[in-house]
Amino acid sequence: MRHPQHVAIIMDGNGRWARARGLPRSMGHRRGVEAVRQAVRAAGELGIDYLTLFAFSSENWRRPKEEVDELLGLLKHFIRRDLADLHKEGVRVRVIGARDDLTSDIRGLLEEAENLTRDNQRQTLVVAFNYGARDEVARAMRRIAEKFAAGEVSLDGLTADLLDEHLDTAGIPDPDLVIRTSGELRLSNFLLWQSAYSEFVFLPCLWPDFDRQAFEDAIAEYASRDRRFGGLSREIAS
Ligand code: FPP
Repeated sequence: MRHPQHVAIIMDGNGRWARARGLPRSMGHRRGVEAVRQAVRAAGELGIDYLTLFAFSSENWRRPKEEVDELLGLLKHFIRRDLADLHKEGVRVRVIGARDDLTSDIRGLLEEAENLTRDNQRQTLVVAFNYGARDEVARAMRRIAEKFAAGEVSLDGLTADLLDEHLDTAGIPDPDLVIRTSGELRLSNFLLWQSAYSEFVFLPCLWPDFDRQAFEDAIAEYASRDRRFGGLSREIAS
């Protein structure tokens, strides 16, 4: 069975999960963290080398302050509580997204997670935090423009590969499979450049209900697809 090396997930539906139970949205996010733990474990067991999770988008600041504080608090709690275990399990943590406008305590925690786990090789967990794909491309463009202005890059050197190397995801293979839960059929500014040839699986289940079975089903759906990358289908080519 063909196996995805990199799975990226848009975790959606925490609020609806809570509302359906008459609970505050914060409870949905808390259950969402449980689903995060399960997904990381399942990815390790299923041999997925890279798992990217969309934890907080650059647009999520528009939510009410209490909800933003809850989400930031959950991320801090997750790193403080789970980092040692992730490290023990051989998980390397990478964080993508804009760091500059984060508070120093969150920046410090994200750096600590990356530094501690830097040499781990079993599995990579990419946390997309304060992440937006257009913002990521714009930041990469500015870094390239600086090099261009300094004469370090020529006009001919302005290639797709160069942009790749300046994105937050530099060194991480493109996602083979992008999953979104909660029935929404959108990318919402997630990995726009990197998902050019990804397969998409949209699941009706809400993120807190995303379990090992849902993960395996999504992978089975991926395995049944015929990825052509602009070429011919396997049947026609053979
Ligand atoms: C979408 O649900 C989910 C989020 C905005 C954030 C996901 C965050 C977590 C699961 C917790 C923190 C993450 C980590 C890695 C510890 P929604 O609120 O948009 O749900 P709705 O569309 O039903 O309102």
